[in-house]
Amino acid sequence: MSDTPFTFSIPNPGFIPSRVDNHITRRLSALRGQFLDQDAYARLLDREDTLLYAVNEIKRPAAAGELLMGVSIVHPGKVGKEFFMTKGHFHTVLDTAEVYYCLRGEGFMVMETPEGHPAVERLSPGRVLYVPPRWAHRSVCTSRQEDLVTFFTYPGNAGHDYGTIEQQGFCKLVLDTEKGIAIVDNPRWRK
Ligand SMILES: [Fe+2]
Repeated sequence: MSDTPFTFSIPNPGFIPSRVDNHITRRLSALRGQFLDQDAYARLLDREDTLLYAVNEIKRPAAAGELLMGVSIVHPGKVGKEFFMTKGHFHTVLDTAEVYYCLRGEGFMVMETPEGHPAVERLSPGRVLYVPPRWAHRSVCTSRQEDLVTFFTYPGNAGHDYGTIEQQGFCKLVLDTEKGIAIVDNPRWRK
C-alpha cells in the first residue's frame, strides 16, 4: 500500500468514491433480530432480501496512526414502523472515535456507551458528527425517497465489534409514527 499522499473525489450524484478498495453490502437477512417488528421483518424477508445499505471503503493498514475512510449509503425504507438502518457497532478498540460528514439525505445517528447512556443526533447534508471514543453507532435513514449518504473516517486500528449490538440492540429506536418521526425506548433492549 502506498505511503505517499493521495486524493480522491466523491462525485455528486452517485457518491461512489473515485477510489474504492472494498465494496460491502448488507441486506435485510444480515440484520436478523435487529428490528422491533419481527413479523414485519419476516414478511419483508419472505418477499425479498432487500438491500439496506452499502459501504465503499478506502483501505489503509490496520494501524493506530492510520485513518480508514469510506462512504456509507443507507437506502430509504421501513420494517414495520422502523426505518432502514445499519447493523451498528462498537469499535473493538473502544477508545477510538469516528467522524461522519453527511452528504445527502436525512437521518439520525443512534449511539450509546457500554454503560447504556444514549445519544441520537440528526444527520442532514453539510452536518458533521463527531462520535467520541466508546460510543456505539448506527445510521438510520429517515428520508422517504433519498439515500442517507455519509463520509466517515476512523482510526486504522479501531476494528468492529458487531456482536454486542446483535445481542442487545440499541436502547433507542427511530420509528415512523402518526405524529411523525419519533425516538423511543427499545422495549427489547438487553433482553
Ligand atoms: Fe465505526
